[in-house]
Amino acid sequence: MSQLRAVINLDVPGPTVSRHLYGHFAEHLGACIYGGIWVGEDSAIPNVRGIRTDIVEALREIAIPNLRWPGGCFADEYHWRDGVGPRADRPSMVNTHWGNVVEDNSFGTHEFMDLCEQLGTEPYISGNVGSGTVREMAEWVEYLTRGGEAPMSSLRRENGRPDPWRVKYWGIGNETWGCGGNMRGDYFADLARQYSTYCRNHDGNVLYKIASGARSDDYAWTQSLMQTLGDYGCGCNPKHYFDAVSFHFYTTMTDRKTGRATDFSTDEYLESLANAWRVETMIKRHSNVMDVYDPEGRIGLVLDEWGTWWAVEPGTNPRFLYQQNALRDALIAGLHFDAFHRNAGRLVMANIAQTVNVLQAMLLTSDDVLIKTPTYHVFEMNKDHHDAARLDVHLLDATPTAHHDDATVPLVTTTATAKDGRALISLTNLDPEADHTVAYDLRGGSPSDVSARILRADSPQAHNTREAPDAVAPVGYDGATLSENTLTVTIPAHSFITVGFETG
Ligand code: AHR
Repeated sequence: MSQLRAVINLDVPGPTVSRHLYGHFAEHLGACIYGGIWVGEDSAIPNVRGIRTDIVEALREIAIPNLRWPGGCFADEYHWRDGVGPRADRPSMVNTHWGNVVEDNSFGTHEFMDLCEQLGTEPYISGNVGSGTVREMAEWVEYLTRGGEAPMSSLRRENGRPDPWRVKYWGIGNETWGCGGNMRGDYFADLARQYSTYCRNHDGNVLYKIASGARSDDYAWTQSLMQTLGDYGCGCNPKHYFDAVSFHFYTTMTDRKTGRATDFSTDEYLESLANAWRVETMIKRHSNVMDVYDPEGRIGLVLDEWGTWWAVEPGTNPRFLYQQNALRDALIAGLHFDAFHRNAGRLVMANIAQTVNVLQAMLLTSDDVLIKTPTYHVFEMNKDHHDAARLDVHLLDATPTAHHDDATVPLVTTTATAKDGRALISLTNLDPEADHTVAYDLRGGSPSDVSARILRADSPQAHNTREAPDAVAPVGYDGATLSENTLTVTIPAHSFITVGFETG
């Protein structure tokens, strides 16, 4: 066990930790939409207009701030017009990326916007650049957001929605370096400008346009996008054609085929942590590139796909990306959120992949039963960080580390925020064996009223199932004590803790 000392200045608030760092992503992939979120109005599973009620209730509990849809790779072969109008008349298509299955378009624009309204969340629509047209994208924006008598608003009205919706977040393509068109950076940078130009702001709706960004550590891609931003030729203000650039990063085993969600050795556990930690370096380096072209920080960085990607569960369709979710996934989520908090400011949004039944899911369905995963519980325990001010945690001692090959793996990570007179500290102990203690010297306040919760289990492999849905679930914790201004927290091996208190 190591004893770490830390200082937090309660009276020095940092940048806001946007709630959008806790964003989500639902794709037409496997059983995320069909059989997950969407069961149809005639289903015996309780639903509201075809949308599964227990899923909506569970996601409302974690206050999801935004939901990205319809892909992913699917977005770049999705043609929105096929998904509006009477369901019986909608044409089918083949979902070539995800299992070559026939997509009947029964979940389309209206169903998605209904889902967002039921969830109380902001839509983030990912537009088709790879196989779509500028006109198609421009008309989708018009369909969604324009009132009055324009052609697309009339079509929307005919389809049962008189008033326009409000849509802020708009993606220009997805992984355009890969499944979204296999483009080169400079070529896509010009397309991003072109598509963005015609995505108009209608009737007071202001879009926040997010250009499809890099794969992991492809900083040259970010540079291609950023260097097209300025338009200084006219001597007028520099233009920006999009408001943010994205990037995607998944935590995988080096050999993706063998890494299992619940069956892994300690060495494999450390390997996955070493890979997960790369996220913070990537956020910083993409930010560094952006700083060169945008020193004022006008353009946001959006990590709109992140999470663990293990081998699929035995016996399931390899293209449906269905995996279990263990305590390890929750700890990796804790690690990511701390990295997000530390880089709040330039990093404005992050979306975990994906919401239901796919990759690092919040929720797994088993017929009529809904299982909350360990990852879900981290989202819930961290909820009070949404839109709170970061409080920097100054560690006075080096964190314990482990090694995997050449990588050094930090084993303890902690961040803090404050909002409305209350602070929340998150602490993740990734150590597979040892407990650790952190003593926080809380300066600039009179802390009181401490309460703590813990997410832990006997092993990082522990997970929730239909038979044991609460095997990994948060409980109250008495290992956090306050003595004057020193808050001492003991954090058991492989566990995640949140501690809340009044700042005074
Ligand atoms: O989330 C699954 C897939 O991962 C997405 O469709 C794609 O964007 C990424 O490669």
